[in-house]
Amino acid sequence: MHFALHPFMQRKVLIAPSILSADFSKIGDELRAIEAGGADWVHIDVMDGHFVPNVTIGPVAVKGMRPHSKLVFDVHLMMSNPLPYLKPFADAGADCITVHAECGDCVADCLTEIRRLGKNAGVSINPGTPFEAVGESLRHADLLLVMTVKPGFAGQKFMESEVHKIAEARKFIDSEMLPAVIVVDGGITAENAGIAAGAGADVLVAGSAVFCGNGSVSENIAAIRKEAMRHVH
Ligand code: DX5
Ligand code: ZN
Repeated sequence: MHFALHPFMQRKVLIAPSILSADFSKIGDELRAIEAGGADWVHIDVMDGHFVPNVTIGPVAVKGMRPHSKLVFDVHLMMSNPLPYLKPFADAGADCITVHAECGDCVADCLTEIRRLGKNAGVSINPGTPFEAVGESLRHADLLLVMTVKPGFAGQKFMESEVHKIAEARKFIDSEMLPAVIVVDGGITAENAGIAAGAGADVLVAGSAVFCGNGSVSENIAAIRKEAMRHVH
């Protein structure tokens, strides 16, 4: 693994604001605000208009963001054909690159290529995809991203039906002593952060709850972290 995070060594839950819910007219300020507000990673949602109906951020935008943040750039590729785009995102400044199990046969090649590029390799599962679909891939991955909404849009409701997969992943990763961290993505709020953290999440992604929540960005991050840490054991 390429980053100093290990579930056995640290019982901390990291917070990764999803930049998709930020104000892109002042993206540098938004990145500085989350860094000053205690965020650990920046989650960057890449959508191709094919794997999901929406189109969002490309390598040019990631490159533009890079000078404004020292945080880990966690790039989530919701793409049907991610392989040709791995190097452009790596060159743009990604630290972690995650591809979806549902994109098919290319997952193993993608994980190998991401690591060859010197980045952390992730694999993600949608609601509806069983944990078993990624079990073996986890032997070659640095992170597992469990979706708790149907991918495509920010601001959806957290699906409690997916929590059992977080627990299954935690059990598998711990029993097999794998280094992969568990990232949970979709609909995370201060109200449900404890459920995800208690089930075994290492990193919580939050878009709307951070950028469109009741408090300031730093208050919103702190509220999610506090609730998550109450449930870590
Ligand atoms: C959904 C994305 C998520 C999303 C998170 O397709 O992968 O990262 O933007 O936003 P919230 O926290 O609003 O669900
Ligand atoms: Zn995401």
